[in-house]
Amino acid sequence: MTRSTPALDLSPLSVQDLLCTSALSPADIERIFATARTLKAARSQHTDVLRHKRLAMIFEKDSLRTRFTFDVGVQDLGGSAVFMDHRDARLGSRESVKDMAKNLERWVHGIVARTYKHKALEELAQHAAIPVINGLSDFVHPCQALSDFFTLTEKWGSLRGRTLCYVGDGNNTCHSLIHTAARLGVDIRVCSPEGYEPNSRVVNEAMRTALETGGEVTILNDPDQAADGADAVYTDVWASMGQEDEIEERNGIFAAYQVDAELMARCKPGALFMHCLPAHRGAEVTQEVMDGPHSVVFDIAENRLHVQKAVMALLMR
Ligand code: CP
Ligand code: NVA
Repeated sequence: MTRSTPALDLSPLSVQDLLCTSALSPADIERIFATARTLKAARSQHTDVLRHKRLAMIFEKDSLRTRFTFDVGVQDLGGSAVFMDHRDARLGSRESVKDMAKNLERWVHGIVARTYKHKALEELAQHAAIPVINGLSDFVHPCQALSDFFTLTEKWGSLRGRTLCYVGDGNNTCHSLIHTAARLGVDIRVCSPEGYEPNSRVVNEAMRTALETGGEVTILNDPDQAADGADAVYTDVWASMGQEDEIEERNGIFAAYQVDAELMARCKPGALFMHCLPAHRGAEVTQEVMDGPHSVVFDIAENRLHVQKAVMALLMR
């Protein structure tokens, strides 16, 4: 490891927390991407922008990617993380979220939390004088969507004029993709079974934002129509964490929404396949597509590290 530190522009973002990408301006997103690019290119260089900084990690749900990438990421930047496995007791059950925030702010410099209720994250952020980063809530998954679009900038250069097709449940991942696509001026088509469409407030807000950025948000129920001529197809599990008792019912309802080679063939030649992971091979995506030449799922997983390092470097100063 060399000792030269990469040159980073760490002037503040327009937000103090990262709860939802709908709070970010297009300029904030560009700053996060530029910082992530620099940090990624300089991974072998010594970087100590978070020297002596501590990150609290509070997770109500399982995680591989988010947990590893925040922990490794803060260490890469010279800091350290303390993990609190909160699966058996939800935030606010032992003491109020406010009191938790008031304690944590005395010990650490930032919090990443993975929660069921999005409101718990908002409360943490409201009461803690340190940045709070959303590591997934039932409502949104902002770090995921930032890493998804960062990966697309690496693959495509400009995102302008590109169409992302999301097939599946209108869930947390989907909401953050819609919020972020609208801010970046990317066309997004979301295709879900009836009754499983994304939150209408998310869609309406994104449609208004897209009018200003030149993007387009389209909600459909027919996967063939949604994939037609798309540049990338994205899917996620049919039952998210917390919906385990609905798996069987959902497997039936979503069966026609599997991403397979036939659906990919409706897209532009070379269209990318995306998934936040973990994937259920043989359910929402076939083995063939998941392991196919245009699958970028592990590039996205890698980029969680670089993008979240950028988010921490910009927020935890
Ligand atoms: N995509 C994602 O957030 O993965 P984990 O649930 O493993 O953190
Ligand atoms: N929608 C999924 C994403 C997991 C990263 C879930 O919430 O379980």
